[in-house]
Amino acid sequence: MRDWWKNSVVYQIYPRSFKDSNGDGFGDLRGVIEKLDYLKELGIDVIWLSPVFDSPQDDNGYDIRDYRSIYEKFGTNEDMEELIRQAHERKIKVVLDLVVNHTSDEHAWFVESRKSKDNKYSDYYIWKDPKADGSEPNNWGSSFCGSAWEYCEERGQYYLHFYSKKQPDLNWENETVRKEVYDLMKFWMEKGADGWRMDVIASISKDQNFSDYEETEPGRKYYTGKYHSNGPRLHEFIQEMNQEVLSKYNCMTVGEAPGSTPEVARLFTDPKRKELNMIFTFEHMNIDRIPGSVNRKWALKPFDLRELKRVMSNWQDKLSGQGWNALYFENHDQPRIISRWGNDTTYRRECAKAYATVLHGMQGTPYVYQGEEIGMTNVHFPLDEYEDIEVRNAYKELVENGKSISEEEFKKAVWNKSRDNARTPMQWDDSENAGFTTGKPWFALSDRYREINVKEALADKDSIFYYYKKLIEMRHQEPLLTEGSYELILAEEEHIFAYLRKTADECWMVAANLSEETIPAEILKSYAKGVQEVKIANYAERKDLTEALRPYEAFMMKIQ
Ligand code: NOJ
Repeated sequence: MRDWWKNSVVYQIYPRSFKDSNGDGFGDLRGVIEKLDYLKELGIDVIWLSPVFDSPQDDNGYDIRDYRSIYEKFGTNEDMEELIRQAHERKIKVVLDLVVNHTSDEHAWFVESRKSKDNKYSDYYIWKDPKADGSEPNNWGSSFCGSAWEYCEERGQYYLHFYSKKQPDLNWENETVRKEVYDLMKFWMEKGADGWRMDVIASISKDQNFSDYEETEPGRKYYTGKYHSNGPRLHEFIQEMNQEVLSKYNCMTVGEAPGSTPEVARLFTDPKRKELNMIFTFEHMNIDRIPGSVNRKWALKPFDLRELKRVMSNWQDKLSGQGWNALYFENHDQPRIISRWGNDTTYRRECAKAYATVLHGMQGTPYVYQGEEIGMTNVHFPLDEYEDIEVRNAYKELVENGKSISEEEFKKAVWNKSRDNARTPMQWDDSENAGFTTGKPWFALSDRYREINVKEALADKDSIFYYYKKLIEMRHQEPLLTEGSYELILAEEEHIFAYLRKTADECWMVAANLSEETIPAEILKSYAKGVQEVKIANYAERKDLTEALRPYEAFMMKIQ
């Protein structure tokens, strides 16, 4: 089946933190191979590996030095081939991370490009002359703070970098660059890769006017989805990539698309347009930040369930029949959902299952991020122990230099939102370093690993793990989950996320109480004449709609 990704569940692996097989404290491909049986037990169909290619690791591998070799700490190209082979033996597909908005500044193309204005690689990147006073070509900012331009003495020009200065943006206007990208994609697809997650793919086409962003504050460097995404030739480039590469393989694609609306998502994912299968939206992930604040994601806004329901339901409605959703709450850039918007102590289990119910009940392809299936939590480290370049740069710009946010407030935001929350090593068991490594881990573990780990989860029939396993099985067995229509109910209710899924012959109610209150079930009753079957529930007692919904109670039921 060509649309196999429609009833698949994808498991994201952040390889440096998944499993270390050789005791150097850094996860690797052999570690992933060791854990394939675990993933088979969970029942997922696809693994997506965050980048494993050669890299100086300025942004943990999202800065690639050589697209055709595996980074030595992850292993070798042979290990990668073996991983693909062993995954395929278990009927698990392997999706790789395509990072082609930018490369590392240590990539051979950039090393040459920076040397002069007239060599073969000169136009592989985006170079601009300084303004008359020697300053940057415009006021664009980097996602990791500061200017998006870096001056290069050798060329007497600036180069553009939407991320760190070690991540220069490629010039997609250059046809040769595009061809290089298509070639490297084919290289891995010929080795058996089953598709691509495409890093910030919505940013590859730049507005060639390179004009200033509208200035609201003098001197501020701006980073916004509005300018950094959805440039004029984006869809033309993606269609070309589809024609040159994707259409030739039975593969899966998911594009990361910050700043995109459901309308843009349709352009990407309407099958008639021959672009991508689905995209990752950021809209639901941005509901807890104050829009437009200088402090960006660190400006916390209280969680409002009604806003989450509005955004996610809008994506369900707008893409229905015209595209496809990628469903996620967690990944390597997002904190743990139960710590962020739920309860990771008293109701940790119930809460993890409730969020899973809401997500896996929707139309689209669900993504599970490593550790989500055992209810891993955020961590609370002292600020100087954070590894992530995003946190380190933001601290310098906003706390040390700018003082636009106090150290205390910043710490609170980091504990809540930092990407490092998701990057602590996977918790396999209760032994030293949670069974992740026999050496010194590259990054600290959560101090809760003795309580929260895979060994404990596998030994307990009522664990979060088995709940996920059941949700994944249901995705395979119940066509309604893939095909059924979606209808939000109780849109303005503050505690409950509930919706109906319908096909010609069946109707299901999916409901989750995402609060610690007890909520009378009456509010749901008017939507069901009767309950035919409880498909899944996180409180075993749930049989119908008589009893009130307990804290973080969730279920899916077939109704009349
Ligand atoms: C998105 C990736 O998910 C993130 O981890 C990375 O820092 C940026 N793109 C830049 O590649």
